[in-house]
Amino acid sequence: MNLFRRQDGQESIVILDFGSQFTQLIARRIRELGVYSEIVPYDASWSDVEPLKPRGLILSGGPASVYDAGAPALPDYVVDSGLPVLGICYGMHLLGLTLGGKVQATHVREYGPQVVRRQSSDRDDALLRGLPSSFDVWMSHGDIVVEPPPGFTVLGRSDTGQIAVMASERFLAVQFHPEVKHTPLGVRILENFVRHICGCSATWVPTSLIPTAIERIRETVGDGHAVCALSGGVDSAVAATLVHRAIGDRLTSVFVDNGLLRKREAEDVIDVFRDRLQMNVVHVDASARFLSRLAGVEDPEEKRRRIGHEFIAVFEEEAARLGQVDFLVQGTLYPDVIESATPAASKTAARIKTHHNVGGLPSNLRFTLVEPLRYLFKDEVRQIGLELGLPESVVFRHPFPGPGLAVRVIGEVTREKLDRLREADAIVREEIERAGLSRSIWQVLAVLTPLKSVGVMGDGRTYQNMVAVRAVTSDDAMTADWARIPHDVLARISSRIVNEVAGVNRVVYDITSKPPATIEWE
Ligand code: XMP
Repeated sequence: MNLFRRQDGQESIVILDFGSQFTQLIARRIRELGVYSEIVPYDASWSDVEPLKPRGLILSGGPASVYDAGAPALPDYVVDSGLPVLGICYGMHLLGLTLGGKVQATHVREYGPQVVRRQSSDRDDALLRGLPSSFDVWMSHGDIVVEPPPGFTVLGRSDTGQIAVMASERFLAVQFHPEVKHTPLGVRILENFVRHICGCSATWVPTSLIPTAIERIRETVGDGHAVCALSGGVDSAVAATLVHRAIGDRLTSVFVDNGLLRKREAEDVIDVFRDRLQMNVVHVDASARFLSRLAGVEDPEEKRRRIGHEFIAVFEEEAARLGQVDFLVQGTLYPDVIESATPAASKTAARIKTHHNVGGLPSNLRFTLVEPLRYLFKDEVRQIGLELGLPESVVFRHPFPGPGLAVRVIGEVTREKLDRLREADAIVREEIERAGLSRSIWQVLAVLTPLKSVGVMGDGRTYQNMVAVRAVTSDDAMTADWARIPHDVLARISSRIVNEVAGVNRVVYDITSKPPATIEWE
C-alpha cells in the first residue's frame, strides 16, 4: 500500500544513501522545500530508481574512504542518466575520483565548524546563488578532493584552503553538510539545487493525499477487521485515526497500560480516542504483570527485553479475544523503513540501545500489515494528525520511550519508585508547559536515581534520593543538546519536586549533550 508516496506526475529527488548519519536529514530538508524525496541504498539499481522519476540525484555522505577495500562505488546510472547530481562529503569524493579528479585519503573522519569562502572568479553559480562571500558550515574532515575532475570549477574553499565546493554543469559537490542546522545557510544550497538546477517546484503537500489514503485503506481492508496497538504517541494515533476514518468500528484499538506510563496518560488516551473521536478502544490494565516481570531486574537492556516480550504477549491475548481480525495497523514511519533497508555494510553505528524492538510487534503475526505512514517523516505525520482533527496535545506530544518510566528509574523498578517518578515527571512537564517551552524542546524528563544525599528539612536531617531533570533540543534524537532553560523555571521545578515528591531532597539538571551522553539515562 503505497500511501502518501509520490503520485504520478509528482517531481522527486532521489537520495543515494552511502551510510551517513545525516542521510535522513537531507530527505527531510528537501521535503520541507515542498519537493518529494526518497532514499535508496547506494547499491539500488536503476530499475529501483527510475520509477520515482527523479529530477535530480543526491549522493549522501558516508563513513567509508573511497580508497577502502570494498568502499561503496558510484552506480553507472548516476553518470549515464544525464540527471543533475549533488555529491555531499563521501558523495563528493566519489564524484571526484570517478570523474577523473584526485582525492587524498585521510582515513579519519571528524566533524567541526569551518568557514567557506566563495571564489571570486565565479559569483553567479547556481548552487551558491544568494549566499554571502563567506559562510559558516559544518565540515566533515574525511578524504578531500585535492584536484577537481576536468571541466569542474572550484566555487568555494575552506579557511585551510581545501576545496569545499566544486561544480561542472551537471555535477555539483560539497565537502560539508548542507543538511545540518550547523550549516545555517545549507538549506539555501539545497534549495538552489532542487529548484534552480533540477527545476523542481514546490508541489509536495502530504495532507492533500488524505482522501486518497482513506479510500485505499477502505479498498484494502474490504469487509475485514483491523486491530491497532495504541500507545498514546503521535504515530499510532495518526495511523489509527486514519484507518478509523476508512473503516469505522471495524477497527479495534488496544491500549496496553503497562504501569510504566506518565501521570494521567491512560485517562488522556481514553478521553481522546474513545470519548472524543468515538473510536473502539480496549483498555487493558496490565501493570501488575509488567511489574512482576521487572522484579529484581536492574540491567536496562534486560528491562527492555522483558517489557518487549510482555507487551507482545498481552497484545496477542487481546487480539485473540477479538475473534477474526485480518489486519494489523502500525504507525511505522519512513525513518524505520530506511533504517531496515540500509545495506549492513554502510550502517554506521552499532545499535546502542534496542529502541525500536520495544513496543513493536514481531513480523510473524497472523495479520496483514497496514502501515499508512510508511513514507512519511514525523513532521509530515503531525500535519496529517492536525488535519484529521487530533488535539495538539497528541500531535505535539514529546517522544516517550516504549519501556516508559522503567528506563528512568535507575536500578530495580518498583511501584513505589514509579509513583514518585511519575509525580516528579508531571511537575517538570507542567512547568515547561507553563513557561511556553514545550514546543522548542524535543524532550523533557525526570530520572529517579538511587543516589542518596544528605539534606536538611525544617530542623531535621534527611537522607534521600536525587532526581535528575533532563531537557534537550534536537532534530531527530540522533544528536541532542541540553536545553538552556531559564533559571527561574529550573528553580520552580526544583523547589516543587523537593516539596511535593516524597523521598526526594535534591534535584540536579543534566548539562550533557548527545553524544557523548544519550538522551535517556538508561
Ligand atoms: P537515547 O537515549 O538513545 O534516545 O538518546 C533516543 C530517543 O529514543 C528514545 N528511546 C526509546 N524509545 N524504546 C523506544 O521506543 C526504547 O527502548 C527507547 N530508549 C530510548 C528516547 O526517549 C529518545 O527519544
